Amino acid sequence: MSTEKKAPPWTTTRFRKLKGREKIVCLTAYDYSTARLVDEAGVHLIMVGDSLGMTMLGHESTIPVTLDDMIHHSRAVVRGVTRALVVTDMPFLTYQASIPQAVENAGRILKEGHADAVKLEGGAIRKETVEVLVENGVPVMGHVGLTPQSVKEFGGHRVQGKRARDAEKLKTGAQALEEAGCFSIVLEGIPPNLAAEITESIGIPTIGIGAGPHCDGQVLVIHDLLGMYNDLTPKFVKQYADLGGIIKGAVELYATDVKRGKFPGPEHCY
Ligand code: KIV
Repeated sequence: MSTEKKAPPWTTTRFRKLKGREKIVCLTAYDYSTARLVDEAGVHLIMVGDSLGMTMLGHESTIPVTLDDMIHHSRAVVRGVTRALVVTDMPFLTYQASIPQAVENAGRILKEGHADAVKLEGGAIRKETVEVLVENGVPVMGHVGLTPQSVKEFGGHRVQGKRARDAEKLKTGAQALEEAGCFSIVLEGIPPNLAAEITESIGIPTIGIGAGPHCDGQVLVIHDLLGMYNDLTPKFVKQYADLGGIIKGAVELYATDVKRGKFPGPEHCY
């Protein structure tokens, strides 16, 4: 029997305690094999983001994503994970209409999608919903700033919180989410100084995306980090690989081999 001690899985309680101790590493994943690799690489938290509408399903935004889409991908991700905390997005209009709607749908994400927690968008307006979810045993991650489900209302992908009044609203929104019981909050598309102010003003970890270096942790969409689509790279992304190029190159080599009768060779035959 091995005496090697396995690191325990991340829980929301242990995740909260990372604030101020170490920078927190988060990344999206949407399928079993990617989640396995991301988990093995040691990230703290995997988001099954509704960005899967664009990256996996080819939609132009997150708006068409359904609860069933999220549950399907969440189950696949959880099968590949042994350690990271898995947080699954509640898609557009699956929690906004009423608190009972939010409880029922968050319940499905935990019961059928096997996620550890849900994430939902919005600040102070979500306070009561978060309170009820948390009281009923559903861990919640908040998400404020350039929240993608509201891009139609924002008039496009515009940095939020530039004006003092808007910055104040985002700050009080984050504080309301903490009071309501969120274990962490994503800050998206806001100026770095505002992200720093919010991070200092609350006791739960902030996870930034396009929000500068002062958050408690960072998250990226894995397709951006891996360079799957070179035509759509936002300014805040750092591309760590050209996987799109590698995949295309490999497929072209395979196609050439097949066309020239070089594959399969004698070494590939039974
Ligand atoms: O949908 C998503 O992938 C997200 C994060 C990257 C914050 O919400």
